[in-house]
Amino acid sequence: MHPFFQQVVFEKSYTKPVDKPLLKLGEHKEFAFIGRSNVGKSSLINSLTHQNKLAKISSQPGKTATINFFRFPSQDFLVDLPGYGYAKTSKKERSSFQWMIDNYILQSEQLYCLFILLDLRIKPQIIDLDFIDSVGQSGIPIHLVFTKTDKLKANEKQKNLKAYKIALRETWEEIPPYTLTSSVSKEGIHQIQDAIERMIESK
Ligand code: GTP
Ligand code: MG
Repeated sequence: MHPFFQQVVFEKSYTKPVDKPLLKLGEHKEFAFIGRSNVGKSSLINSLTHQNKLAKISSQPGKTATINFFRFPSQDFLVDLPGYGYAKTSKKERSSFQWMIDNYILQSEQLYCLFILLDLRIKPQIIDLDFIDSVGQSGIPIHLVFTKTDKLKANEKQKNLKAYKIALRETWEEIPPYTLTSSVSKEGIHQIQDAIERMIESK
């Protein structure tokens, strides 16, 4: 058990990065979760914190529409971001989500690790690979999280993971750290908790 994660509380939502200095947070670490709409970002935050209703989830893509901060007792933060690239959200909403994501990533000096979520059920998508490459070039540490593994058989997981590795190797000499997860079966949740705890403790 990771009691530390159960003590995470909601801190604040914002839509404009300029609002952020108002938080007056000082020195801290942020661990942000990003990926396409519906990939399971908010569900992962709930699984990590053992709290069903901390982050709002929905079967409808586009649920998270603001940048949401969740605070650890250590004053470090989990950050739930809106999803990118969902075709059915309005053009205006899509560009405002993209704007929030870009600004958050570019302006967040306290961003310590960006967890990029990928749906392991589907083949590698250009939009995700491009996003991973662009973040990689900016030098922000990333951790890939393959989601919804409860929907796959063991051999399918291996096959789909291999397809992602092949696609990633086109631009990455070494595959970034990754974890296979499910918010239903809880596969991989401990590993992500361990990784975050280690990063919080490293000063
Ligand atoms: P946006 O906020 O819209 O960008 O989506 P999100 O990435 O935060 O996804 P969210 O956590 O809201 O989950 C989207 C849908 O996927 C919901 O219906 C969840 O119940 C479902 N879901 C999330 N994680 C898993 C998982 O590990 N397994 C399964 N089977 N379903 C999942
Ligand atoms: Mg969400």
